[in-house]
Amino acid sequence: VLQSSLRPLPSKLHKSTLALMRCFSDDFHKRRELRTPAPNGDIKKEFTNVTSFYYQSAIDAAAMQPSVRLTPAAILYSGKSPDQSHILRSAQYLHKELPVRIAHRINGFRNLPFIVGCHPTLLYVHELYIRAFHILSEFGPIRDMEQEQQWSDALRNLLDDHKDVVTQLAEGFAECRKYVSDEGLIKTFLDRTLTSRLGIRMLSEHHLALHDEKPNHVGIINITFSPRKLVEKKAEFIRSICEAKYGASPNVKVNGHVNCTFPYIQPPLDYILGELLKNAMRASMESHIQGTNIPDITVTIANNDHHFVFRISDRGGGIPAKIIHQVFDYNFTTSGSMLDDRVDRGIFGQMMDTDNTGPAPGKMHGYGFGLPTSHAYAKYLGGSLTLETLEGIGTDVYLRLSHIDGRSESFRI
Ligand code: ADP
Ligand code: COI
Repeated sequence: VLQSSLRPLPSKLHKSTLALMRCFSDDFHKRRELRTPAPNGDIKKEFTNVTSFYYQSAIDAAAMQPSVRLTPAAILYSGKSPDQSHILRSAQYLHKELPVRIAHRINGFRNLPFIVGCHPTLLYVHELYIRAFHILSEFGPIRDMEQEQQWSDALRNLLDDHKDVVTQLAEGFAECRKYVSDEGLIKTFLDRTLTSRLGIRMLSEHHLALHDEKPNHVGIINITFSPRKLVEKKAEFIRSICEAKYGASPNVKVNGHVNCTFPYIQPPLDYILGELLKNAMRASMESHIQGTNIPDITVTIANNDHHFVFRISDRGGGIPAKIIHQVFDYNFTTSGSMLDDRVDRGIFGQMMDTDNTGPAPGKMHGYGFGLPTSHAYAKYLGGSLTLETLEGIGTDVYLRLSHIDGRSESFRI
């Protein structure tokens, strides 16, 4: 597939650059273990060198098209038909839409500075997207439920193949960002890539979930979403990891509008709340190394007509003034470093490994992606993430989100 669209290398590229590119591509072939078969057999043969990443007319054409974004209310109220035609319609929309969105992501990789784009892990993710593009765009028209089933199976496998993308990006950029002086460039790339990926995954998961009859759910939308229940569930999970690492964990108290329920899309909140609670617990534990009198973490829920808010308050000593301006930067972390005087040996290292519930599952072990990713997700979801810290005392993090019930102007997925 790709071979046929190869054109000769630009004559300007130096031999050593070509050697570097080939060596990188060999390297990442070794790491691959993917579930979805490539459309035409062994994908290894198809990527002979990095030029194949840049010269592909089908991707260029798709990348020129705008994406069609939907409001959650449109998804929620799109109607359910007994003959399953709503599932067919959803597949037909995604069949057209996903290759366009994926082509935009590929463009993002192509426009990275060359030295960054050649990093093996980033090339690997770039390749994953090219592969996904071909698998999805070469799938024939979806006219009946049998074709829909085959397409959905391919989509499910792709979601699984891409499940570690956030970790892979975090790892890749941790290694090669030193070559880029313009921080804004990396931030723009990661904000776009991660939020677009969130959208792609939410739409895909929603489509797959339309096949299941889950009480109080339309696809991935939980009609009776309870912020309190989610906080309690996440707190229990993170406390168990905290216990395993420290032998103790802070209590998490929930107050405010504890009984409210409304329709919402839970998966991105699984991720964000997991990250925020992890930070609050880590700070609480590390500012009380003796492991006694660990202060509670308090989560306050406020629900109103247009927005709802989570405030996560810890007494974990706050964030030192000298690093506060960096905590929303990708790859900024005090985990495993001597940047601050708290004791930290990457203690929450493997923490997110077992938490594969969210749209961005994977291993977030001290790469400094939790806050910036959560910030980008919150903005994408029509909300915000801000914090107030009292150095020496603790931190309050405010996660504000928009309702999706269609009563006010909504974000689009
Ligand atoms: P990571 O948890 O991988 O370090 P984050 O992006 O979640 O990445 O956080 C970046 C840094 O911000 C942390 O390493 C920590 O120094 C600081 N931080 C975040 N939340 C808190 C908090 N509640 N209290 C104290 N420090 C915090
Ligand atoms: C991702 O998870 O990175 C995706 O873009 C998923 C898509 C290939 C279905």
